[in-house]
Amino acid sequence: MSDYLMNSGTMKAVFLEKPEGRLVVKEVKIPQPGPNEVLIKMSAAPVNPSDLAKIRSAHTEYDLTSFIPGLEGSGTVVEAGKGILPHLWKGKRVACSSEYYTSGSWAEYMVTKAGKCFPLGSKVSDEQGSMSLVNPLTALAFFEIARQNKHKAIINNAAAGALGRMVELLGKKNSIPVINIVRNQAQVDTLRQLGSPHVLNSSDSSFIDDLRSLSHELKATLLFDSVCSRQLEMMCDALPYGSSVIIYGNLTGEKQVVFNPRNLISNNLNISGFYLGTRARENGLIKNMLHLKEVSSLMSSDLKIKIHVMFPLSEVQEAVDTYLGNMSAGKVLLDCRTTHSNKL
Ligand SMILES: NC(=O)c1ccc[n+]([C@@H]2O[C@H](COP(=O)([O-])OP(=O)(O)OC[C@H]3O[C@@H](n4cnc5c(N)ncnc54)[C@H](OP(=O)(O)O)[C@@H]3O)[C@@H](O)[C@H]2O)c1
Repeated sequence: MSDYLMNSGTMKAVFLEKPEGRLVVKEVKIPQPGPNEVLIKMSAAPVNPSDLAKIRSAHTEYDLTSFIPGLEGSGTVVEAGKGILPHLWKGKRVACSSEYYTSGSWAEYMVTKAGKCFPLGSKVSDEQGSMSLVNPLTALAFFEIARQNKHKAIINNAAAGALGRMVELLGKKNSIPVINIVRNQAQVDTLRQLGSPHVLNSSDSSFIDDLRSLSHELKATLLFDSVCSRQLEMMCDALPYGSSVIIYGNLTGEKQVVFNPRNLISNNLNISGFYLGTRARENGLIKNMLHLKEVSSLMSSDLKIKIHVMFPLSEVQEAVDTYLGNMSAGKVLLDCRTTHSNKL
């Protein structure tokens, strides 16, 4: 029997105390991997907007007594269920995403499908590796979509965040200009320091006019929006004829977005949604592995995600509050190896 099971057979994991309540740490049984699954001793896990969205709606979808949050992270595979892939990953340091609502990455151990793990290169730290699935794969997908549909330039909203910075970097690598939309002057300055020539501030009174002229000048016919603000309708109306709008997040939490049907028709606009999980399922294992390899090589070189601070699991609520206080400051990580304070 493995050391971790002989020790106590239990682990610390994050739970939601009650609907809209605080996040707390509880001691529960370590899960066991089934066929095609692995057990990972977790190292680090980020707080992502998608985690918070899942936590907010958890009480309507899951049994809170078994719901463990955390969609991605990094760790070492310590047990393998039946199957070739689980045994291939055993003993390896991996980036991983969760498969089950009962086993998230905000815990000392997580069980997930072996197909949701990818070995980390020796140059990639546990911290950077813990963020190497959701945002990097999404950024790659954006450029795949842009290339497939022959867009000459793209527009991205909430561009000062982790994903936005990656999109800017990949834009340069792919020679596809990116118009970055941010919401204040400090974020304009951050993007300019990163070398972005095209940054618009959605708080400026000239924002919609600026978007209209720059999108027409660069032939930016693909808008990725994760904000869903009340400006979205005017933003869409400002885009060049035949543009596509892809909604991939809902940072405002607005329940509805409004579009003028006449403008959609006359401007030939195409509006759709994007969810990485769906795209990964459609891509299949081999294409996903190729994308992960590309991410791994990018992360070994210039793709570094800014980390703001790291909290132990036991301070999970403080971690979430800190993250929400300043999302653009960088990612807030949970240190799954320790339950006592050891902030970066
Ligand atoms: N659909 C998918 O598959 C998928 C995959 C990956 C990411 N996403 C989405 O991508 C978005 C960005 O993720 P991330 O990891 O880059 O987040 P992040 O690093 O936390 O950054 C979030 C950024 O959004 C800004 N922001 C927050 N609320 C805003 C609002 N109401 N209006 C305008 N800007 C706002 C923040 O600015 P402040 O500092 O000013 O708050 C920050 O710059 C999220 O919505 C996430 O859910 C979706």
